[in-house]
Amino acid sequence: MAKLENEINRRRTFAIISHPDAGKTTLTEKLLLYGGAITLAGSVKGKKTDKHAVSDWMEIEKQRGISVTSSVMQFEYDGYCINILDTPGHQDFSEDTYRTLMAVDSAVMVIDAAKGVENQTRKLFKVCVMRNIPIFTFINKLDRDSKNPFDLLEQIEEELGISTCPVNWPIGNGVDFKGVYDRSNKHILSYTANGGQSEVEKVEVDLNDSSLSSVIGEQNYNQLVEDIELLDGAADELDLERVSKGKLSPVFFGSALNNFGVEPFLENFLKMTSSPLPRVSDEGIIEPTDDHFSAFVFKIQANMNKAHRDRLTFMRICSGKFERDMEVCHVQGDGKKMRLSQPQQMMAQEREIINEAYAGDIIGVFDPGIFSIGDTICAPGKKFKFDGIPTFAPEHFARIRHKDTMKRKQFVKGATQIAQEGAIQIFREPESGYEEVIVGVVGMLQFEVFEHRMKTEYNVEIINEGLPYQFIRWIDNEGLDPKRLNLSSDTKIVQDFKGNYLLLFTSEWNIRWALEKNEGLELSEFNKN
Ligand code: G4P
Repeated sequence: MAKLENEINRRRTFAIISHPDAGKTTLTEKLLLYGGAITLAGSVKGKKTDKHAVSDWMEIEKQRGISVTSSVMQFEYDGYCINILDTPGHQDFSEDTYRTLMAVDSAVMVIDAAKGVENQTRKLFKVCVMRNIPIFTFINKLDRDSKNPFDLLEQIEEELGISTCPVNWPIGNGVDFKGVYDRSNKHILSYTANGGQSEVEKVEVDLNDSSLSSVIGEQNYNQLVEDIELLDGAADELDLERVSKGKLSPVFFGSALNNFGVEPFLENFLKMTSSPLPRVSDEGIIEPTDDHFSAFVFKIQANMNKAHRDRLTFMRICSGKFERDMEVCHVQGDGKKMRLSQPQQMMAQEREIINEAYAGDIIGVFDPGIFSIGDTICAPGKKFKFDGIPTFAPEHFARIRHKDTMKRKQFVKGATQIAQEGAIQIFREPESGYEEVIVGVVGMLQFEVFEHRMKTEYNVEIINEGLPYQFIRWIDNEGLDPKRLNLSSDTKIVQDFKGNYLLLFTSEWNIRWALEKNEGLELSEFNKN
């Protein structure tokens, strides 16, 4: 029992989020280097070179230099066992990111110091707030010309509505970047640019020590003294209780590319963030140290490696210990008992079969096609369901068919598998099959990925006919026959693959019309099942 608690308490599971290009991949790699998990960073993904960051593996990612899928990486550092969940930065794949955020206990938000809060940061941030996830901020690229740090904090506070507490403070920026001042230890970590390399030197100094001005320059010194005085008087205290509720974000400054400020960030972060948190189920709160194993599925991915045609289901362990070959129940699969096949942990493309894992860890298992996003898996004896993961309403729709009628089987298999993964949503005309489907996506790029994967993984060419619908609503009234509804002529009735009825609308006006003409009709934007 003590071992179980020890193992769980030393775990930290978090996601890194950012607007594309803020430096998420670079920071992830530097963290992995500290853990000794990789020896050579992919020198950050290869937009221009052919090295790729370890966390970018799909072909389309390589072609476009964007992260499409979220990957999971585990490493040890200073007695901690760390699980980092990488997330796609591109907004067209935000659904995947939303689901990943359901599996973590905190998030690290990377912000480009020259740009401040950007679009995608705002969106992702909203999801963190929805779930009260503690957020840590890493302001990156101080080696480039940056915005004033006070303005950056003000922008975070105003636009994102969270208080901030700088843990360290930058001294200069761009060519004049001299390092950071650690507010609690009152020492300077000085930075010397060295042709892209960095020389990091820890200098313990008292702010009142005037010899400091010879290290960082007189002007920077005066500015620093002034800034620190202002911060000490006006900034929020580092209140870990508020941090844990997602109300206050500790802020760090640095340059991931130069590996500057990454280590102090990691060390402070590991102390400030929590070990695996309890989870809500329909039978109440499930504590991570409960010795009854339980987990939920947050991600499914087929054909991650073309050499092994396979489908992996990723689950977050919520309580207890997982042991290889143990018997578990799939709650949503009528409680069917099974053994999870080849449980593995991921180091991007490297997979390692594991013998045990603990609450907080993410494991991937081979899946013959039985799991869906949000499913609960637990040791026999108890049967509860974790709160579901909401499905986001798609905003773009297309009718998809296969070009070659001989490929019907592959088409149905590909479309349903990719939909089960949650990479797209598929709908069909009521009572019809899946030879032709209506595909819904949140971002247009998802269509491209779908088309690409159908071709490369299932060898099926598809015909994509865009549809004018923009809104989708689930019908919440049980037992209602949608054919009896009074709807405008351009509203379409469809079914999802669980058989639920939905309506597709071309405008918000049509939604209002449907609600007005059909008394008692209940529509919702998210699928709650
Ligand atoms: P992302 O995952 O958030 O999309 O960002 P990523 O880490 O890929 O970084 C985006 C770009 O910013 C990369 O350059 C990367 O080298 C650069 N970068 C990351 N951190 C820093 C930093 O601290 N300082 C500076 N100056 N640049 C940084 P790129 O030109 O887009 O790609 P590449 O040519 O380096 O591959």
